[in-house]
Amino acid sequence: MIPPMTTLWQDLPRPIFTLAPMEDVTDTVFRRLVRSWAHRWGAPGPSVLFTEFTRIDSAIRSTPEKPDGRLRSTPEEAPLVVQVWGTNPAEFEEGAAALEAMGFAGIDINMGCPAWKVRKSGACSALIGTPSLAAELIAACRRGTSLPISVKTRTGITIAETDRWCRFLLDQGIDALVLHGRVADEMYDGWADWREIRRTVEIRDSLGSRAAVIGNGDVCSLDHALRLTEQTGVDGVMIGRGIFFDPLLFARNSPTPPPPWEDLPLQERVGYLVEHIQAYQQEWQGKRSFEVLKKFFRNYFLPHSPRETALLRRLYTLGSPAAVTELLEEACQAEPQDQSVPARKASISSQA
Ligand SMILES: Cc1cc2nc3c(=O)[nH]c(=O)nc-3n(C[C@H](O)[C@H](O)[C@H](O)COP(=O)(O)O)c2cc1C
Repeated sequence: MIPPMTTLWQDLPRPIFTLAPMEDVTDTVFRRLVRSWAHRWGAPGPSVLFTEFTRIDSAIRSTPEKPDGRLRSTPEEAPLVVQVWGTNPAEFEEGAAALEAMGFAGIDINMGCPAWKVRKSGACSALIGTPSLAAELIAACRRGTSLPISVKTRTGITIAETDRWCRFLLDQGIDALVLHGRVADEMYDGWADWREIRRTVEIRDSLGSRAAVIGNGDVCSLDHALRLTEQTGVDGVMIGRGIFFDPLLFARNSPTPPPPWEDLPLQERVGYLVEHIQAYQQEWQGKRSFEVLKKFFRNYFLPHSPRETALLRRLYTLGSPAAVTELLEEACQAEPQDQSVPARKASISSQA
């Protein structure tokens, strides 16, 4: 086995909590917000962050001064791991060097995305079926950089092949393995199988590997994440869609956590949304469509409230951030003020 060369993953305090890479969701703005909202409530927040997945050839064309949009970042996101996908080892070698020059803390190779648009090119989860190419990509990254290399993957393509596949990956000397406990063909159906995650930890231990194993799949809170660490022995947990149901999820391991999301008054939840809209506008200035952000408005509202559902429907019809903010202000003014709003609220008045 090739020994891991670097220590980011070994140095992070356990358990590692991280926000999953999610295309069109976890851009530089959202990554910063999630971490800063956690800090605002006295919680450490995700200890490491990931970019959205990025084609390796875009990395080659990027420079620190002019990065591809998905590679934009700020120092507040450190340590930030860049996630890349592709099939060409030469590009991985060149891209890895370029990404190191851009200041990322690690490189993650996507070997898990189940979408046909990427699988049909032989990339992402298709690599589970072509292990020799997967190994070449890891080796090419190693030649291009001394940064830690991780792989994010699933348990198999059609059926779980954790024993074969995860053992193979760990044998390549990767520094961390992020395992989503589903096979690619399941997409997001059913439930992630945490037993496969535990099996991967056992394999890692039996190999004497020092790679960190990060479990992923269906974790909806930090308490739930702790349960995953207890049941499987993983070094850390990656949380994706859970953040849609609780944007303050990473603020909850604080001595003074925020009230449950659904208990926050509309004004306060809207305050967080307005903060998101304003930061998005400031960062992207129209270079990333406002429609992308609109898809995630619903995370800030309560699905069982007819009043909020009606408000959301009206918001979807609006084309500009200014119009959205104006309607949100009106809606908050019409709402009775809640006197029990905690002091660290992100209120619409403090953001406007
Ligand atoms: C909207 C969306 C976009 C995603 N984009 C990526 C991506 O760019 N890279 C990646 O490795 N996984 C991506 N994923 C998968 C997540 O990182 C994660 O593995 C998956 O959602 C399971 O975790 P969860 O149950 O905590 O959501 C995406 C998932 C969603 C819902």
